[in-house]
Order: sequence, then structure tokens, then C-alpha cells
Amino acid sequence: MVISPKILVFDHEDRMVEFMVRKWEEIGKKAIAEKGYFTVALSGGKTPVRFYQKLAGWDGRPFWHRTHLFLVDERFLSFDDQDSNYGMLRETLFEKIPIPGGNIHPIPAEKGSLEISAEEYERDLKMFFKLSKGQHPVFDLILLGVGEEGHTASLFPGSEALSERIHSVAAFRLDESRHHRITLTLPVINHGEHVIFFVRGKNKAPILRKIINREDLSLPASMVQPKSGNLLFLIDREASSQLSL
Ligand code: 6PG
Repeated sequence: MVISPKILVFDHEDRMVEFMVRKWEEIGKKAIAEKGYFTVALSGGKTPVRFYQKLAGWDGRPFWHRTHLFLVDERFLSFDDQDSNYGMLRETLFEKIPIPGGNIHPIPAEKGSLEISAEEYERDLKMFFKLSKGQHPVFDLILLGVGEEGHTASLFPGSEALSERIHSVAAFRLDESRHHRITLTLPVINHGEHVIFFVRGKNKAPILRKIINREDLSLPASMVQPKSGNLLFLIDREASSQLSL
């Protein structure tokens, strides 16, 4: 059954970011009320930076110690590298909020090998979410972006990682410019309670049209079909310019 996503279009990035902070608070409050903690998987890239900066200023004091932040994907680089997702999140958010260090779960991309890092991250997920064999973590919130060619997380078109159904984490080598990658797999993303795409800019209008209109189901972003969770697209006017809404 194909679920139709909810789509919200914003004229200004500030409004989009403010909405996302309120959404974060709403989802977080409910998760903490229901089970005592809130789990989020965060994407890298440029689009969510303003949101992370805004979130850093949010007075979430009662929540941060009950919030656990994971990464959707990572480039296999030093955290000090300018292309590191953890490095960007550390600078824009993690260093600015009163969250216990143990509540931040980086993908250990500085360890020995790509495969060891992926295994360690999968172990962290299994332990934290108390998973039995074959189970995948269920995040309260997963924040995703979209690449111009339809990738999301570090799941690229035609990638073998797209067919991974057993492991929650996949690792693979890309070309030098895109770095080697470690990523959550589709089963994890599609188990998310709230999966939110954050898309801005005219350059994303063509791919967004293909995703929303389901023109090409082989696109990784088109394969995001939460089993029981909500799917929401937060987009700006430019990115929506090829949609007939
Ligand atoms: C990454 C991200 C990736 C990102 C898209 C969009 O590590 O690059 O997780 O999936 O969300 O590439 O990136 P922009 O927001 O920079 O366009």
C-alpha cells in the first residue's frame, strides 16, 4: 500500500525552521510522556543546518536528558573534516545544548575500518533499542534530505545497500569526492514513527516532482514508505515549483 505523504510548503526558510522546531517538540513531548525517552536520527548535508542552529536555541532543558540523538549516515572521515556529518552536527547543535554525552550516538567513523565502524554502530543500535535478532530500531523521528539524483541518507540510486533487509546499518565505498559511507538502511527508515524530509531550493524541484508524483520508484527517496509511521515533506516554494499542489 503506497502511503501519500503530507506536504507543507513554506515561503521562507525561517518559517520552515520554526515549524520543524515545533514539530520536534510535539513529537518529543509525546515520546517522553509515553515511554520516557525520545529517539531521533539526524541527516547531514546543508539543508538542515539552519534548523539545527535554531534547535540549539530552543529551551529544551526538560527534554535533552531524555533525548537520544543518532545519525542517519556518515562519511568515513575524521570528525574534524569539513565534510563530516558528526562534525557539522557537533558545531551546529551538539556543543550548544545541555545534552548528556552518552545521549549522542555518533557513527564511529574514526575507527579502524569502514566495516568495523558499521558493525560498531549496529551494535550500539541493538544495545540501545534492546533489539532481538532480525529486529530493526524504531526511531520516533527521522530527518532526511534528498540529493538531486534522488539519494537519501547515504542510499544512492542503484546501490546494493538499497536491498539490505537484515542489517540496520550498511557500509560501502564511493568515489573519493563523495567519500566512503555508512548509512541506516531502508528497513530502519521505514520503521520510523515520523519520517520528515527537509527539502529546499530550485535545484531539488525536478527530483521532488519525481518523488511526490512517484514517477520513478527506483529512486531511494521514493522507497521511503514508512510501514506505520507518518511521512511529511517540509519544502520551500522553490523546491515545490514543479509540483501541482
Ligand atoms: C549526507 C546526507 C544526505 C543529504 C542529501 C541532501 O550525508 O549527505 O545525509 O542524504 O541529506 O545529500 O544534502 P543537502 O541538504 O546538502 O542538499
